[in-house]
Amino acid sequence: MRISRATLAGVAAAFALVAAAPAAIAQTIKIGLINTYSGPMASNGDQIQKAVDLFMKQNESKLPAGVKIEIIKRDDTGINPETAKRLAQELIVRDKVNLITGVVWTPNAAAIAPLATEAKVPFIIMNAGTAMLTTLSPYIARTSFTLWQSSYPMGTWSSKKFKTAYVAVADYGPGHDAQAGFIKGFTDGGGKIAGEVRMPPPTSDFAPFLQRVKDAKPEALFVFVPAGKSATALMKAFGDLGLAKEGIKLIGPGDITTDEELPNMGDVPIGVITMFHYSAAGDRPANKAFVEAYKKEYGANAWPNFISVGAWDAMQAIFDAVRAQGGKLDADKTMAFLRGWKNPNSPRGPISIDPNTRDIIQNEYVREVRRVGGVLANVELETLPAVKDPWKEINKKQ
Ligand code: PHB
Repeated sequence: MRISRATLAGVAAAFALVAAAPAAIAQTIKIGLINTYSGPMASNGDQIQKAVDLFMKQNESKLPAGVKIEIIKRDDTGINPETAKRLAQELIVRDKVNLITGVVWTPNAAAIAPLATEAKVPFIIMNAGTAMLTTLSPYIARTSFTLWQSSYPMGTWSSKKFKTAYVAVADYGPGHDAQAGFIKGFTDGGGKIAGEVRMPPPTSDFAPFLQRVKDAKPEALFVFVPAGKSATALMKAFGDLGLAKEGIKLIGPGDITTDEELPNMGDVPIGVITMFHYSAAGDRPANKAFVEAYKKEYGANAWPNFISVGAWDAMQAIFDAVRAQGGKLDADKTMAFLRGWKNPNSPRGPISIDPNTRDIIQNEYVREVRRVGGVLANVELETLPAVKDPWKEINKKQ
């Protein structure tokens, strides 16, 4: 059989292509995920992990050919800035990650921030919500929320319903922000503060604080405690001490009525009003699909909360950044890409990253806990569209 030179050359070229193709585009992007997998607050870390796993399962095949994302998990065990810093250091120096993400807790995020700057490693915050965090490094972007974003409009809204409010918050960054934001909105609207108390985080003994509130007899009690088991303990103490019977209305950011803990809170939360950016009961099609996929993966009793959604949207942003760079993840190009990144179709509604502050812009919803179809749900009543972090707006921070 005679084979022409041209055919041979063609076959050789084809072989060369096949041989070269994987080497040319094979690329593993390493993501360091710092999260809370153990300790009393691990249920929050579970929300992040479930969202990351589900996102990877649904989207891994949509990466450019040959591109892999490797998630390297590390356990910060709770509010533990020293541990978080060491983990970030190891991820950067030893594992050579392209990006760091996760981080439930503000003190941990603050400890990681200088390393992101020094090493030029993008750091996408999936949860930690103190307003100033994004100002700590130009390599930080946030897909979660700020406490000002919920608490300031909650103050404004409440000033039209209540004359007096007592403020009780966890004594650390997000609590201080919730306190300042609520008080500004409430007092600007004409409301009076009946008292203020800061409670050590993470505490589950709320009775002494709530007793003071009961004695002060405010019309409303605004509370921030971290989502998860603390919020459930708070709700139990509020019920046990009979504050609702004294006519005191419980209000707050949505951290106190998170969707996955509602089934553990008895009837106490019914009627509680919160301002927040995510409810598992939201009836947007993207949310219905998200909740359905979550339940299919993790069981009928599993509920995603705002922490899951913060992680879900961070993964979307990371995948979009990788695709936009043809399968790579360069630090500066990633930060440029994230400034102004948009997702019109997040489970929580339309979201974007503010190009000036690298913080999230999102809807806030006034919600009330009601019984829907036999289960408690945060029913969305009003929508405040495209809310920017008010702390940065008021203080002209970038
Ligand atoms: C935080 O530490 O920033 C934090 C943790 C839990 C929340 C909100 C904020 O529910």
